[in-house]
Amino acid sequence: MKTSRIPGFYNMTVEERRQLIAKMHQLTDEEKKSLYTADSLSVETADKMIENTIGTFSLPLGLGLNFLINDKEYVVPMAIEEPSVVASASYIAKIVRSAGGFTTEATDRVMIGQIQVVGCPDTQEAKDAILNEKEVLIKSANDAYPSLVGRGGGAEDLDVRILNEDDNSQYTQMLILHIYVNTCDAMGANIINTMVESLAPTVERITKGKVYLRILSNFADRCLARATCTIPPELLKSDGFTGEEVRDGVIHAYEFAASDPYRAVTHNKGIMNGIDPVVIATGNDWRAVEAGAHAYAARNGHYGSMTTWSVDDAGNLVGELELPMSVGTVGGSIRVHPTSKIAHKILDVESAQELAQVIVAVGLAQNLGALKALATEGIQRGHMELHSRSVAMAAGASGEMIDIIAEQLIEANEIRVGKAKELMKEQKI
Ligand code: MEV
Repeated sequence: MKTSRIPGFYNMTVEERRQLIAKMHQLTDEEKKSLYTADSLSVETADKMIENTIGTFSLPLGLGLNFLINDKEYVVPMAIEEPSVVASASYIAKIVRSAGGFTTEATDRVMIGQIQVVGCPDTQEAKDAILNEKEVLIKSANDAYPSLVGRGGGAEDLDVRILNEDDNSQYTQMLILHIYVNTCDAMGANIINTMVESLAPTVERITKGKVYLRILSNFADRCLARATCTIPPELLKSDGFTGEEVRDGVIHAYEFAASDPYRAVTHNKGIMNGIDPVVIATGNDWRAVEAGAHAYAARNGHYGSMTTWSVDDAGNLVGELELPMSVGTVGGSIRVHPTSKIAHKILDVESAQELAQVIVAVGLAQNLGALKALATEGIQRGHMELHSRSVAMAAGASGEMIDIIAEQLIEANEIRVGKAKELMKEQKI
């Protein structure tokens, strides 16, 4: 049976983990081979993906465990270089599963295309003319991408705004047309860009203006995913801290982020520590997700916390994260990158909506992991313990020597490359 609860996974060798996951997720021989190949993305494939290719760039791929989301088990692939992130997400997911797991939901996957029109002889008249031709424009957008309609999606609605209405300068006043498109399981950038480019001549004819920009908006506020969790305080207690103390510390930390952009940026960076690795591992555009998430955190006119944390009547800690999540399960590099294909197989989501929900649950877990640590013992001890291995490697340790030197660095409470080099010399004597 597939489960995301795999006790002892952390202590297995990489080989043991691979074998277990390959068996659990029925990886084919080809998939196993590409998981085992250090750089499963070949230079030949890479050369077809971008320009001026000279090689590929690898990241560690780990698995976030213990995730129970809407009663379904998820083993979550995470591509990231930072120590502690995967461990912390898995640790919090274990606590949340004891409390019943995450609850998530997602809106339809409606993405926005923008068309900028300038120089209309009468901007208000142009706006009315666009609205009068709404159905024609929607049909013409769908004609530009007929396969999407066949899949149950397509352009659904259209909107138009005048920017800088009271300013008649040649450059500032403009008409902005939004077309709303259900992109189904695709992230949708190509679909949207094809549609808005194809609409441009018709829009010029209707408005008598000139079209400049025709492009997707990454502020995907009609493509949202939301995760919540409710945790009894007894599940939160840790060394020297009661569950209530941890709960209250998390809420104080949240209120700090909600009120202060200097803290909010770091708080949100911690959330993206969970989100980006899943977006990357599943072959999605993490810059788009980052841009949309931060804009959403500022949607009320000031930049604040992406999450909210509160206490309910029963004294439970309640967390919530809602974000735009413009990810896909088809298209883009998803079918091209061999590791992202395996990541999809391991994650086992059936739709982009489901993927979006897993991602926000991981973001919520990651935030709680950081806040719990920050509000109690601080993050440095755990972080440095994991970091010690990278420091040992940076000092030239390899094989078994990595763990030996890492342990000695922790014992010495001096996790520095210089110290690791000293310890290496001592080992050789
Ligand atoms: C470090 O990568 C992330 C944290 O700074 C997040 C936070 O402060 O909430 C620990």
